[in-house]
Amino acid sequence: MNKDIVCIGAGYIGGPTMAVIAKMNPSRNVWVVDINAARIDAWNSENLPIYEPGLDEVVREVRGRNLFFSTDIEGCIRKCDVIFVGVNTPTKMFGRGAGRASDLQFWEATARNIAKWAESDKIVIEKSTLPVRTAAAMSAILNTHSSLKFTVLSNPEFLAEGTAIRDLLAPDRVLIGGPSDDAGAAAVRELVDIYAGEGDRWVPRERILTTNVWSAELTKLAANAMLAQRVSSVNALSQLCEATGANISEVARVMGADSRIGSKFLKAGPGFGGSCFKKDVLNLVYLCESFGLRDAAAYWNQVIAMNDSQQRRIVERLFHALFNTIANKKIAIFGFAFKADTGDTRETPSGAVVRMLHEEHARLAITDPKALNNAARDLADLDGIELVEDPYAAATEADAVIVMTDWKQYPGLDWKRIYDSMRKPALVFDTRNCLDAADLRKTGFNVLSIGR
Ligand code: NAD
Ligand code: UGA
Repeated sequence: MNKDIVCIGAGYIGGPTMAVIAKMNPSRNVWVVDINAARIDAWNSENLPIYEPGLDEVVREVRGRNLFFSTDIEGCIRKCDVIFVGVNTPTKMFGRGAGRASDLQFWEATARNIAKWAESDKIVIEKSTLPVRTAAAMSAILNTHSSLKFTVLSNPEFLAEGTAIRDLLAPDRVLIGGPSDDAGAAAVRELVDIYAGEGDRWVPRERILTTNVWSAELTKLAANAMLAQRVSSVNALSQLCEATGANISEVARVMGADSRIGSKFLKAGPGFGGSCFKKDVLNLVYLCESFGLRDAAAYWNQVIAMNDSQQRRIVERLFHALFNTIANKKIAIFGFAFKADTGDTRETPSGAVVRMLHEEHARLAITDPKALNNAARDLADLDGIELVEDPYAAATEADAVIVMTDWKQYPGLDWKRIYDSMRKPALVFDTRNCLDAADLRKTGFNVLSIGR
């Protein structure tokens, strides 16, 4: 009989991942549990707690059929033999490793609950991104005081927000790290079967890659660090383009045509945001430092430093373009989400820029199609920020519009209407290079973009 599944943690990872696992494994029951009752209520409602294209449809198909959201963590640990751990692992903000190491308290609380409530052998799967060798600690907590057998696997998730459902349905690869003993091999086979899907209709088996546990844990940090590093590299080049008259879009296009380099993740912009790149690179820095690898730590740390520089530079360039004073000027911020097609605002470049402009006493109006609730929460400590659904209202009487998120509706706005409603001279700073700069100039705008 197929083993039932529970995921502990009903966040951006737990919800979408388990919805797709349930869809592709209709004869398994899949539970998603969380200590946050409001989040579980939202998963059980028509208003899901996260915005992700295609998610509503999948949840509608499987919820109540073989996917269930619940706060009964204890009951689900008892009845399920396969337990995913998808809790948050933010950067630790106190004590040893503050500002770099992962805060492992949520993960450890989960391991202790599993040890306390389990009544049969379990496969425990790290879905959260964790420092390399966490599985050893997990196994020690689980296996010390019990006659039960807990087999710990690492199965990091590579989906990106905004394309989560597409990434889950057709992943480049699935990674499973497991121990090489008999129990480990059996647990890996069980998880491979889940990802292959019933009737082998999901991930082609040759794309399900297996490694030892430590390699799997490290690969996740490494993959995010490499992606973040590409963004920082192209942003560093964009600064040089601005100084020399080269054009970063042209440079990136031609670099990307080299199949050894590849064309993805070469888009210059306001720097990377999102909950993971910064946290995972910092975690890698901390790991390198812990093993005495100072040069490696400094190398990865520079990826973060470059990202911060890119955001400071946006404000500096705006400052100069607005005659070196921003106080009391109205600035409209188009986009608060860290990228298009998500409402997520964790580590959003827009937030960093808004805070710098607020320090300069700008009057700020923020518009975003999906992220205004999160913006209200994130910016609750700042006074005088206007949050407006309608971009035209946000821009009215503004001195500058800054496009911070690459929402696909922004290029299609009536920019002549926006120009007419603004104070002159009117400036657009397109930090995503998604607008037609020549057209905007014809309309009368002063235009700034990145790397041009
Ligand atoms: P999240 O904050 O959205 O969700 C985590 C959930 O875990 C929260 O709802 C929280 O209430 C719950 N939780 C915490 N402690 C708990 C406990 N003891 N028992 C039950 N529930 C508990 O975080 P997320 O974005 O889903 O990320 C989770 C993990 O997945 C992180 O390690 C992250 O690095 C990794 N990851 C995230 C993404 C992404 O796109 N967001 C992609 C790949 C990997
Ligand atoms: C990223 C990875 O792409 C996923 O593989 C990984 O699973 C996930 O982190 C995670 O571990 O959380 P995500 O942060 O959701 O996914 O989104 P990305 O598409 O990677 O974008 C990250 C940031 O980089 C965004 O702010 C985006 O605008 C920026 N970016 C991306 C650029 O500035 N230029 C690019 O060329 C690509």
